[in-house]
Amino acid sequence: MTTGVEIKREVREFYNSIGWQQVGQGLYQNARYEDLRPVSQEYLHRCHMRVARFLPKQGVSLLDAGSGPIQYPEYLEYSRGYARRICLDISIQALREARSRIAGHGRYVVGDLARLPFCSAAFDGVVSLHTIHHLPPQDHEPAIRGLYRSLRPGGRAVVVYSWGKRSPLMRLLRPLVWTAQALIQLYQKLTHRSSDPASETGNQPGEARQGTYTFRHPYGWFRNRLGDLPEFEIRVWRSVSTGLLRACIHRRLFGASWLRLLYWLEERMPHLFGRWGQYPMILFRKPSGQNVAPRSAD
Ligand SMILES: C[S@@+](CC[C@H](N)C(=O)[O-])C[C@H]1O[C@@H](n2cnc3c(N)ncnc32)[C@H](O)[C@@H]1O
Repeated sequence: MTTGVEIKREVREFYNSIGWQQVGQGLYQNARYEDLRPVSQEYLHRCHMRVARFLPKQGVSLLDAGSGPIQYPEYLEYSRGYARRICLDISIQALREARSRIAGHGRYVVGDLARLPFCSAAFDGVVSLHTIHHLPPQDHEPAIRGLYRSLRPGGRAVVVYSWGKRSPLMRLLRPLVWTAQALIQLYQKLTHRSSDPASETGNQPGEARQGTYTFRHPYGWFRNRLGDLPEFEIRVWRSVSTGLLRACIHRRLFGASWLRLLYWLEERMPHLFGRWGQYPMILFRKPSGQNVAPRSAD
């Protein structure tokens, strides 16, 4: 059985040697799991900006736990009103890249999100994006409680997570994605286009998908284990997967308009899409005027 220490070593080595290596101008290997086509850009931008909506606009310190290289321009917005951004990551390569982006605005800490090396109530805002699922399952709760502990009274945290294959919406839409993928392949064959996945998937021809360890708890687990955190909420960050975007959203098939409709629906039913969609945002706040410690992790 793989231990927690081995998992973290594997994840660290992956991000040091593969994930945060640049494969193009400002483009990381890791970004190949994202849909970077222009047709999806507006939707992705608006989803990124949802995070900023729930953070305090200003403060002294923002903690970015599992910062990576701060790879998207929208990420810079989160700490615009803060004196500094504390980037914590298990990968030194991530932090080197983050420093090349925000230089003196940042402080850079190599560390483990499940054992935060900061005193309590140190941050006005906390973000942790697409990172908790890289931790061993037993570390998810202590990691999130650690983020809570590190918040100042009145501070707020935004954690972006993924339900992975458990997302009911993505399960429901899987036949549609498979059909669309098959039609794309057929079209490419008929038009003698090399099955160049780069145009549809972002991968280079012949390139194998490389990844590292992930584990996702279900919605009910979060509600049961962490629902006692003050102002705990699960809302939508983005309800569809990269696979669905690449297979089903195309410029000539009014892709941008479909995504505008989807975003509109997500805004109207944020909790439903947060529960059923692919990527939820987990929100909590430390009440003002106190340093409340809800029950600690087992
Ligand atoms: C998928 S990337 C996300 C990076 C960034 N938050 C983003 O959204 O682009 C996950 C990041 O979490 C970091 N990470 C994984 N396990 C960690 C741990 N136990 N402690 C701190 N950082 C960790 C990885 O090194 C990597 O930079």
